[in-house]
Amino acid sequence: MDSNNNLLQGNHAALWHGRFSEGPDKEAVEFETSIYVDSRMALDDIAGSIAHVKMLGTQGIISMEESSKIQSVLEEIKNEIDSGKLTIDNSAEDIHSFIEAVLTDRLGDTGRKLHTGRSRNDQIALDERLYLRRVIPDLQNEIKKLVKTLKHIAEQHLDTLLSGYTHMQRAQPVSLAHHLCAWIWPLIRDYERLSDALGRIDYSPLGAGALAGSGLPLDRELTAEILGFSGVTPNSLDTVCDRDYCIEFVSDFSLIMTHLSRYCEEVILWSTEEFKFINLSEKWSTGSSIMPQKKNPDFAELIRGRTGLVFGNLMALLTMMKGLPLSYNRDLQEDKTSLFAAFDTVSSCIRVFTSMIQTASWNKEKMKSSCYGGYANATDLADYLVKKGIPFRKAHEYSASCVKLAIGKKLNLEDLSLEDLKNICPVIEEDVFDILPPEHCKEARQTTGGPANSKVAEQLELIENWLKN
Ligand code: ARG
Repeated sequence: MDSNNNLLQGNHAALWHGRFSEGPDKEAVEFETSIYVDSRMALDDIAGSIAHVKMLGTQGIISMEESSKIQSVLEEIKNEIDSGKLTIDNSAEDIHSFIEAVLTDRLGDTGRKLHTGRSRNDQIALDERLYLRRVIPDLQNEIKKLVKTLKHIAEQHLDTLLSGYTHMQRAQPVSLAHHLCAWIWPLIRDYERLSDALGRIDYSPLGAGALAGSGLPLDRELTAEILGFSGVTPNSLDTVCDRDYCIEFVSDFSLIMTHLSRYCEEVILWSTEEFKFINLSEKWSTGSSIMPQKKNPDFAELIRGRTGLVFGNLMALLTMMKGLPLSYNRDLQEDKTSLFAAFDTVSSCIRVFTSMIQTASWNKEKMKSSCYGGYANATDLADYLVKKGIPFRKAHEYSASCVKLAIGKKLNLEDLSLEDLKNICPVIEEDVFDILPPEHCKEARQTTGGPANSKVAEQLELIENWLKN
């Protein structure tokens, strides 16, 4: 290694120092380093290097002996990083340089053979894919835990009545179980979307080189196989500048955050004195420094707020990519800041939301009371008339007249007298009072996906089956 101090970048010479006679400005070094961001991929970087060096040996590009020496030192470095014995030197340019420098310190010229036929351009594309492949299943697991938690609560609340809303106005009675299942399905789609995206990164970029592959007899298929990819990427130029997967994953994260943010909005609303449907545990609430009585839903608000940060990460990636000519440009280094920040935010938000919901309690009485006072059974009255042979449009008008009368008398529909109802529509009989209670309205809706207990039970079974697979 060149020991000319001018050429030192951190404690080691930059990998590219050879054609320079002057070292970089101190501020230039600080400006271009990515070690603070990319060191979280250290183990992925080493896994990629081990596969690469195995292939170099098999192909006779380096000797088998050199290959196994490099492999064992890489294993050693991996274990030392894992156990904390080796700390990553933040003065290195990036994680690739750091690991190569440690290897070379320990192996001399043999270590200098690691980067044969490889560029940091295909290396970084590989590291990112390996990293995502490693951590996305953890995120999917967190989603699964949330689905389980919501399902568990739903199972206890098939009979817990609650008004469904449209336009934030009381609309038709449903159950809390039905509502919570409506929270679950978007999360299942989120999970599936992540699986789809993982499928699209299942191709090894290694061997694309700087941009144009290699003149050395690399076996790309072999490294792909060693690393467990199902194939190799088809075009070297595309490979070194494709960051579709970053955008795709951060889009998926944005959608997860959108869902959490909507649920949090409901949690915030439902924990107001006005609604009081939910009572968040003190563990997941905060107080006020001035108002002694306060118990605030700050965690739900923070999740709703952090949704904006993840959207920002997505916008940063899209904007970063939109003007880039082929192939690699250093702009691409900035992808990791947004990708990792978005990943960290979405992971912690799912965990916090799960704990917050798990420890909350539900106010059945308050939820049931939302089914009264807003004429949420007016559609049921119209349906009753339809069953008596009245065309729906007319039935709607009759029901509306009943609502109008009830509003004038400050009564619920079911509190009007049979005489009053008959005056509006003579086909109404005593049996109308059987269909007006909210329990009946909910149970009457037997369409697939509807709120009747048997239909919600079907959904819960579908969810259970999904969880099992
Ligand atoms: N740190 C770089 C990145 O994240 C690695 C690739 C560097 N390539 C280069 N030609 N300077 O993109």
